[in-house]
Amino acid sequence: MYLTRLIYFSRAKTGVDQDIEQILESARKYNGKHNITGALWFDGDYFVQALEGGRHAVSETYHRIAADPRHADIELVSCDNVDSRLFHKWRMAYFADTQENRELITKYSAHDKLMPERMSARSLLHVLAEGQLLGH
Ligand SMILES: Cc1cc2nc3c(=O)[nH]c(=O)nc-3n(C[C@H](O)[C@H](O)[C@H](O)COP(=O)(O)O)c2cc1C
Repeated sequence: MYLTRLIYFSRAKTGVDQDIEQILESARKYNGKHNITGALWFDGDYFVQALEGGRHAVSETYHRIAADPRHADIELVSCDNVDSRLFHKWRMAYFADTQENRELITKYSAHDKLMPERMSARSLLHVLAEGQLLGH
């Protein structure tokens, strides 16, 4: 089973802030069972997520997440076979809109606000890999 990393971004629907804990809880439960690891960035407006695992499990999980009505305008950024995981310690690491994380955006973007549609796949991956965790 090939190890695969998929990255997408989407726009959060209004009120999703209230659901984050529940999203993370169900994500971590499911991901743990299916050997999926990854990271989720949420700035109150956009989600950016990386999913790592077997190609079949990543594909199934992505399609299930994409059908979730709590976000919209989902855009696939990249989906690659990889030699190793970047988020191997996290069933789903979580990065929120902290001062430190906002500063990190300016390192990898021409803007000081997260605008994933204007960032390369590599920049988005760097942001996820270097973000300051709020939990895992
Ligand atoms: C932004 C976002 C990220 C999510 N990430 C995951 C995830 O990594 N793994 C997962 O199993 N579910 C994730 N979910 C939740 C799924 O969309 C879905 O609600 C959950 O798996 C339960 O599926 P079910 O209602 O078909 O049982 C995420 C949802 C959202 C909105």
